[in-house]
Amino acid sequence: MGGLRTFLLFICISHLFGINAEVTPRKTLEIIIGGGATPPSPPPEDQNCSPPPPPPCPPPPPPPCAPSPSPPPPPPPPPPPPPPPPPPPISPSPPPPPRPHPPRPPPPKTPPSPRHSPPPPNPPSPTPYFGGFESELLEKAFPVIQAFRKKVTYDPKHITDTWQGKNICRDYKGFICDKVPDRKNQKGIAGVNFNNYNFNSNRTDGLTLVDFLLGLEDLAFFHANSNNFTGSIPSKINTLRYLYELDLSNNNFSGRFPYEVLKATKLVFLDLRFNTFAGVVPPQVFLLDLDLLFINNNKFFKQTLPNELGSTPALYLTLANNRFVGGIPPSIGQANNTLLEVLFLNNQLSGCLPFEIGYLKKATVFDVLQRGAGGGMQPA
Ligand SMILES: *[C@@H]1O[C@H](CO)[C@@H](O)[C@H](O)[C@H]1NC(C)=O
Ligand SMILES: *[C@@H]1O[C@H](CO)[C@@H](O)[C@H](O)[C@H]1NC(C)=O
Ligand SMILES: *[C@@H]1O[C@H](CO)[C@@H](O)[C@H](O)[C@H]1NC(C)=O
Ligand SMILES: *[C@@H]1O[C@H](CO)[C@@H](O)[C@H](O)[C@H]1NC(C)=O
Repeated sequence: MGGLRTFLLFICISHLFGINAEVTPRKTLEIIIGGGATPPSPPPEDQNCSPPPPPPCPPPPPPPCAPSPSPPPPPPPPPPPPPPPPPPPISPSPPPPPRPHPPRPPPPKTPPSPRHSPPPPNPPSPTPYFGGFESELLEKAFPVIQAFRKKVTYDPKHITDTWQGKNICRDYKGFICDKVPDRKNQKGIAGVNFNNYNFNSNRTDGLTLVDFLLGLEDLAFFHANSNNFTGSIPSKINTLRYLYELDLSNNNFSGRFPYEVLKATKLVFLDLRFNTFAGVVPPQVFLLDLDLLFINNNKFFKQTLPNELGSTPALYLTLANNRFVGGIPPSIGQANNTLLEVLFLNNQLSGCLPFEIGYLKKATVFDVLQRGAGGGMQPA
């Protein structure tokens, strides 16, 4: 079951990053509650989540009435909980796999370059010469890449060995070129894909990101799953005007939530899983115009889920393996037209599942599985 869900997640995500991010209609809503590594938690004292009695807190603008019963009015009853608590959580403790979705080049798609095919013998008219590089943008990117190359002292897959010479687009592993719309369609670095390269640095400040990222100003995606990047996220990340996808999962980031990402308003994909970020998750992250938000497996402080949660336009939301406490805000019902999967598993949530979950028309997985003793959610 867990395996199936993982698989489905993969499928969905690869669809998501296919050409059309079409949303399939929901078939059944799977709500997973209780269970986990330990047997289902016993219904704690005053969690009387059964049907009616007059609601102590009125439903419409219900404040987080977490531990107390909040039995709903009539609306759509959530579908029956699935059979027995299924096995392991979707996110294995080891590193997350990088997602195999295709890169998304900068938006206004331009027709393919005729430059590629036959090697032009000698251009009839004098073409500009950019120090031997294909374009001025690539000439500018070269020193940025080389400076970063010096930093990478651990490169078990010998990726940086390919970062030599002037033909960046053809030779350099991990860099993807594309035409840059607002730079007269010159070729530039449109994407970085360092997934699973295991880069690290023995420099005292470690493998930092800031100069590198800001130096590649035409980037549309930066995928760096499973490396040892550390330090901060550039505060000027908003200058990367095409940055749609940022994947920093399974690195060595720590400290407070990287508030800088809140300025990256073009992002549709934000993956911060498997780092050791701590502190609070700012509610504004749920207001970003994301399709996908993964912040699971960090060390965020104990906190309740904000009402803003329901405002997320995300299709996939994973908050698992953190320390969220309290109830799930009824605002979740506002995500009725968008949310496909939400994973809360292995937090310390308590209280009743809000009946608003029944409004989620598209969701197929709503997982609040708890690991460990005590607490736990109960269907309202
Ligand atoms: C850092 O790594 C490089 C490359 O492996 C090595 O040559 C250098 O001696 C190392 N420096 C330190 C301080 O460990
Ligand atoms: C980060 O470095 C540590 C220590 O060298 C290593 O054990 C770990 O596997 C590295 N992580 C990744 C994702 O490469
Ligand atoms: C991870 O980052 C910390 C600094 O935040 C550093 O001390 C540690 O050596 C890093 N670990 C690895 C494996 O690079
Ligand atoms: C469903 O979502 C729309 C916006 O997408 C919102 O206006 C509406 O109130 C939501 N319905 C419920 C029951 O929350």
